[in-house]
Amino acid sequence: MYGRLPGSPRRSIRDSTLPRHTRRSQEVAASPARDIVAGPTRSNAAPWIRYHRGVPIRRRPLIVLLVIAIVMFAALQLFPPERTNPPVDPSLTIQAHVPVPADVAAILERSCGDCHSNETRWPWYSYVAPASWLLAYDVREARDEMNFSEWGDYDDEDASHLLEEACELVQEGEMPLPPYTWLHPGAKPSEADVERLCAWTEEAREAIASRAPAGESGAETHGGAHP
Ligand code: HEC
Repeated sequence: MYGRLPGSPRRSIRDSTLPRHTRRSQEVAASPARDIVAGPTRSNAAPWIRYHRGVPIRRRPLIVLLVIAIVMFAALQLFPPERTNPPVDPSLTIQAHVPVPADVAAILERSCGDCHSNETRWPWYSYVAPASWLLAYDVREARDEMNFSEWGDYDDEDASHLLEEACELVQEGEMPLPPYTWLHPGAKPSEADVERLCAWTEEAREAIASRAPAGESGAETHGGAHP
């Protein structure tokens, strides 16, 4: 089948039961007549193409490359990245530290949660290298920068700063990372989502700011309660 050119007759001399060398001489002998009757055949269409076991020799480098590519792709799969979802301590989540209304929680979960929390829903391509490495790397970096599941580890200043950045980056379309939204169109925040998110980050930052002096005044009240 490799040797048959488009338009060449089904009933080919290759199918003959005669030994190879006999077929070859027959082929040569038969070709001028077939030229007229059945159009070009392997033997006369492009006489400069040489064949080895029915495969054109010029194609062989391509086949070799393809095989190498397949073997390398398979080898990559032997080094899967770590897909971790560290346990979530409910007392450390963002909900435990900042008021997060349900609609905002839904946006955060849908658009950010796969990278910025310990509750990543690892997609199917996270099991296929090299995409798996890129995603695992992004998740690690993202959790390092901001992790909704470990929000309790941030001081008020860091928390406020992250909220400010979150609104800015989403407004600018930098978060969620664009390659992620290409693969997960549903995670792309709508304009309404962006507005809601930014309104919430404002409120949340105010809540944090009004809480900071509360710590001091708490100490004052404590001190004032004694005399
Ligand atoms: C596909 C993974 C992914 C998603 C989804 C994602 N991020 Fe990120 N995010 C990252 C990575 C990676 C970083 C760290 C590297 C960087 O800044 O580009 C980051 C960094 C951040 C930072 C810290 C930036 C800084 O410089 O301090 C904020 C804030 C942030 N993201 C907000 C969000 C918000 C809000 C969403 C959801 C609307 C979101 N991200 C969705 C991957 C993601």
